[in-house]
Amino acid sequence: MSEIYYPHKELFENPAFKNMCEYEDLVKEFEKDYEGTWAKLANEKISWFAPFKKVLDESNAPFYKWFTEGKLNVAYQCIDRHLKDKKNKAAIIWEGDNGEKRIITYLELHREVNRFANLLKSLGVKKGDRVVIYMPMIPEAAFAMLACARIGAIHSVVFGGFSAEALKDRILDAEAKIVITADGAFRKGKPYMLKPVVDKALEGVDCVEKVVVVERNNEEIEWVEGRDVSYNDLIVNQDNECPFEIMDSEDPLFLLYTSGSTGKPKGVEHHQAGYILWAQLTMEWVFDIKNNDTFWCTADIGWITGHTYIVYGPLAAGATTLMFEGVLTYPDAGRAWKMIEEYKVNQFYTAPTAIRLLHKIGADEPKKYDLTSLRILGTVGEPIDPAAWKWYYDVVGNGRCSIVDTWWQTETGGHMISPLPAATPIKPGSATFPLPGIFAEIIDENGNKMPPNEKGLLCITKPWPSMIRTIWGDPERFVSSYFGTAKKDGKPVYFSGDGAIYDEDGYIWITGRVDDVINVSGHRLGTAEIEAAIQKHPHVAEVAVVGKPDEITGESIFAYIVLKSNENLGEDVELMKEINEIIAKEIGNIAKVKDFAFVPGLPKTRSGKIMRRILRAIAKGEEIKQDTSTLEDPSVVEKIIEIVKSCQI
Ligand code: PRX
Repeated sequence: MSEIYYPHKELFENPAFKNMCEYEDLVKEFEKDYEGTWAKLANEKISWFAPFKKVLDESNAPFYKWFTEGKLNVAYQCIDRHLKDKKNKAAIIWEGDNGEKRIITYLELHREVNRFANLLKSLGVKKGDRVVIYMPMIPEAAFAMLACARIGAIHSVVFGGFSAEALKDRILDAEAKIVITADGAFRKGKPYMLKPVVDKALEGVDCVEKVVVVERNNEEIEWVEGRDVSYNDLIVNQDNECPFEIMDSEDPLFLLYTSGSTGKPKGVEHHQAGYILWAQLTMEWVFDIKNNDTFWCTADIGWITGHTYIVYGPLAAGATTLMFEGVLTYPDAGRAWKMIEEYKVNQFYTAPTAIRLLHKIGADEPKKYDLTSLRILGTVGEPIDPAAWKWYYDVVGNGRCSIVDTWWQTETGGHMISPLPAATPIKPGSATFPLPGIFAEIIDENGNKMPPNEKGLLCITKPWPSMIRTIWGDPERFVSSYFGTAKKDGKPVYFSGDGAIYDEDGYIWITGRVDDVINVSGHRLGTAEIEAAIQKHPHVAEVAVVGKPDEITGESIFAYIVLKSNENLGEDVELMKEINEIIAKEIGNIAKVKDFAFVPGLPKTRSGKIMRRILRAIAKGEEIKQDTSTLEDPSVVEKIIEIVKSCQI
């Protein structure tokens, strides 16, 4: 039986939900009048230039449309409309790796975004063009995203940790016209480079016309004549005003690539009105954002968390968002707490991996700082274990802050399942209940609700405004990936790829992916992508990778490799190094293998399917419970177990 933690109500002045009755009232309102309730919220929250005609168009399901024919501009929603009463309020507070600071007011943000938008226009960027943003965590990355939104260009931010190959794949898939990057930035006191990665990625690529380079660390870089332009040089000549494009609710806003269980990464497509409505609403509901708050989300803008909760959500809500270039543990274990003290941060949002690391290297560090400004502590990206939760609650939050364990995905655009900080009684490790308007249910493939304590499929059984619209260039894959697994009342419903359980009180407990996606430090990696990279090594005949529980990163990557010549079974340090170099080149360092086992074969069924469940159990050191007699070669399991034991992995 889990302990229950009740909100410290005195921390919350006028929250969106004061208690669970208010939560239930809104849930019921949605049940009674789904479209009407969404329409009310959309009318209240969005500055429309022309009203929408239909709330939800289901005529071409599952390609749902929301707020059709409504006209708006997301940059206007995030900036212009705040100028009336917030022009001198800090929109973005930025801190560099070395402690350098920049404060950008809403008026300054307006100017910077307009100038960037004009710069892009001068390079020929038009509504609907794709712009790839490969940037460090500097304010210009946010300016670039908003500049695209202003002129109707579709941005695709690629995380700066991805390799040239991974960047190239994403540039080609989106047929990007422009790449925005920086020479590099700083990390742990040292400069690192991005521009050379872009140069490499663009070898043999025809679609990209211009590369805009923000000079951040002023290291030596190569300039390609006619292609590369300096942001620093061009921006000074741009006009401070740039008219915004009138956008339709269903015009694309951005693409964000994410891993699936098979094949290449998917370009998840989000559109305008539904996305920005939910980004803003969840800031108000889940983070209780108030006018004087300073909100800090530690994600990188290359992930959906950075999109929704560093840039779009906080700015749409007219809040102050803190953006950080550096590493939470540099120059010492107190960096994060020092920043919370200094900026009087009110909401701190990070990943369990970061919490576990901060706990491990400095369990008592938070006590040295004044963290009393905090009201809400957020977590996202992976299940949080009780030890990390307890430390976060007791030591960082000093036993008073509400912890919001937010479950959501790149595809959902914003939070789906989360406590409401002033209302929900919390059980550590549970994301608790679906937010009002979100019909998240744990069901079987036929739509039957799972009884308590039985694992089922975590599905969203009604379309919602901020949902993925399609996979860029591959609508069939969109349908099969998300709407091919479960049905309710005979109608295909969105399946998240996660398993989950209700407890006897109806709380939702996420058990993790049920597909072949590994979650390392909250980063989604497809086994197929990693295997394809490893397969490129000339000595590799076959490979299967699985996730293994890891004390800090949640999961780590375990590779079983069959070599072409079966001589060196067991360990081969040199080979491991070479394989990891290939992975770093093909995907990026985030996908490196932690544990290797060179094995004589893989456990396969007679039809050739690799039995990953067996490999997962071996990686975890668990007993094999399945019947292995039906395998093509049952003896291989024993051999693999022996090898894994002898390697002391
Ligand atoms: O498995 C779930 C896990 O992260 C996946 C989504 O990954 P991504 O699209 O990269 O987005 C991460 C940030 C929103 C989910 O399918 N996940 C996310 N949040 C939680 C979680 N697992 C458990 N608890 C969470 N709070």
